[in-house]
Amino acid sequence: MESEVFRLIEKEKERQDRNIELIASENFVSQNVLKALGSCLTNKYCEGFPAVRSDGCGKKGRYYGGCQVIDEIEEYCCSKWREVFHTDYHVNVQPHSGSQANMAAYLSVLQPGDTILAMSLNNGGHLTHGSPVNISGKVFNTFFYDVDENGYIDYSDIEKKIEEHRPALVLAGASAYSRVIAFDRIRKIIDDSGLEKKPYFMVDMAHIAGLIAAGFHPSPFGLADIITTTTHKTLRGPRGGMIFCRKELASVVDGAIFPGTQGGPLEHVIAAKAIAAEEACDPSYKEYIRNVVINCRAMCDEFIRMGYEVVTGGTDNHLFLIDFSRTHPDLTGKALQDELDRHGITLNKNCVPNEKRNPVQTSGVRIGTAAETTKGKTADDFIAIAHRIDAVIREMSR
Ligand SMILES: Cc1ncc(COP(=O)(O)O)c(C=O)c1O
Repeated sequence: MESEVFRLIEKEKERQDRNIELIASENFVSQNVLKALGSCLTNKYCEGFPAVRSDGCGKKGRYYGGCQVIDEIEEYCCSKWREVFHTDYHVNVQPHSGSQANMAAYLSVLQPGDTILAMSLNNGGHLTHGSPVNISGKVFNTFFYDVDENGYIDYSDIEKKIEEHRPALVLAGASAYSRVIAFDRIRKIIDDSGLEKKPYFMVDMAHIAGLIAAGFHPSPFGLADIITTTTHKTLRGPRGGMIFCRKELASVVDGAIFPGTQGGPLEHVIAAKAIAAEEACDPSYKEYIRNVVINCRAMCDEFIRMGYEVVTGGTDNHLFLIDFSRTHPDLTGKALQDELDRHGITLNKNCVPNEKRNPVQTSGVRIGTAAETTKGKTADDFIAIAHRIDAVIREMSR
């Protein structure tokens, strides 16, 4: 009997093929990634870690029999991702998501009640970076650094707040920040701080991981103690997460994933992550990321040319934020998101720096070019899409 679910999957596939996808955290995976996700590996229970670790550190050994092939797949995945980022950091490929990766990363080096300093949510941070509505903000004592009047990370605010709050961990990384994050500056601020016990430096590179892999954003490897990422955004892999860490933290990081916060790993997803890593090692991936960045700049410049206000006045990466609060004070991000949905264009509302509206309404939208670049769109196509969005806004403002 044909399941109703397959009819709905087909319907969703048609939507994905037909619509223009501008959500900065989405992408379209390859057929091979989909094939691994739908494989028999989902049948296998394998709590624990491979019996042999190719980097010689981290936890070893499974709690179930029959894991010989699974061990090969997981270790292959780990070594491929080290190759992607040209690093000898230990890597744990088991986190089920970016949120799981972040929580395990905190718990690997912190105790409940310890202090975290992270980028504020309204200025581009992420819920899992200590927001009071997320478990990270309930378990840890969190303080936030801000952006300056031009929308750039305020590094002097990081310096000031490290001295003021004496955090055990400083976190860099964002879900809505269009500029280069100077990991080297933050490393130096931590090293030069007057704190006797220097805070751990953690980077959540979820959004920009693909740019780092392809050399279009400075790398946090060698600077940060722990690095988390999702695998489904610019890395164009299956939904999931990963944690990289300095070798001396390998065992505590592995232990924070299992048994700390997760049970059996999703080996079908880990196999798909390995395929995404193989794809990221191919020269065509670098070309893809180059185009993502070129397309983003072209579209962003076109909006600026048409009179829109872009946070920081531009972009260095795969996304940018339009702030309507001055140019279109009556337009909310939510209203535009809903109206564009009716026109077959998908994006998301987003808070802007000094946001006056609540997170449900917002005064801005976030636009990303990773997904449509995978579909083959060029800079000219993105400029044309900017004009379609402008036409919708004009119609709404009449
Ligand atoms: C910077 C950052 N970290 C973590 C996450 C959480 O990832 P997930 O949705 O896989 O839990 C996101 C998701 O948008 C993100 O942007």
